[in-house]
Amino acid sequence: MLRKIRHTNIVHMIGDCRKGDNLYLIIEIMANGSLLNMLRNDAGSTIETQDLIKIALQVVCSAMKYLEKNFIAHRDLAARNVLVSKYKNVFKVSDFGMALDLNQNNLYKQASSKVPVRWTAPEVLRNKNHELRSDVWSYGILLVEIFSFGETPYQEWNVHEVVNRVLDGCKHRQPRNCPNNVYAIMSQCWFMEPKRRPSFVELFSLFESLISGHYQLYLTVDGC
Ligand SMILES: Nc1ncnc2c1ncn2[C@@H]1O[C@H](COP(=O)(O)OP(=O)(O)O)[C@@H](O)[C@H]1O
Ligand SMILES: [Mg+2]
Repeated sequence: MLRKIRHTNIVHMIGDCRKGDNLYLIIEIMANGSLLNMLRNDAGSTIETQDLIKIALQVVCSAMKYLEKNFIAHRDLAARNVLVSKYKNVFKVSDFGMALDLNQNNLYKQASSKVPVRWTAPEVLRNKNHELRSDVWSYGILLVEIFSFGETPYQEWNVHEVVNRVLDGCKHRQPRNCPNNVYAIMSQCWFMEPKRRPSFVELFSLFESLISGHYQLYLTVDGC
């Protein structure tokens, strides 16, 4: 699948080779490793809110919109799977190990396999039903990682608590330095009903409005 994906914000596969039972993928090097490491190392010292919004937009606009249009579900969207270029100005979605071509069915029923619980939508946790908008849920959690400089999502809960509470309809709290209107966008990614979540095309225009300054950025001063 990766072979036919061509996009500036998706890591490029150069080739593959097989040795015994192992398949090796040769992919372009992204000199600064993962977005998760970049966020944790920076911890807010140089990256500003507008930059965070641009990162979010670049990932969403350029990569996820493309995958959505091609009916490809990534299924492991998280800051650890976004890679950063040498000059920290290009971000690319990587790790297509769990990706699926939904082939216009828009729904995949998985047998059993491991899921990244903290990033996973309730319909996948409950029925293993994966659809394109399940990636939108994970994207909301990726935004949490971006705006909390790489905190583990729901860090105060263990994985069993995460499963139970997410299935009960609990949402992730607002990260401390996350503007209210960005949190409003995240919250839309977490509607229990997948169809109510915005598409990546819609998310793109929401973020574009933020960048072009149509919205004021408000900060919650005393935490949340
Ligand atoms: N092309 C690459 N360039 C630079 N670092 C990479 C690259 N691919 C992977 N990495 C690093 O290795 C980590 C794990 O890679 P990944 O492809 O997500 O494998 P997995 O999740 O299966 O262990 C990434 O989070 C990143 O830090
Ligand atoms: Mg990975």
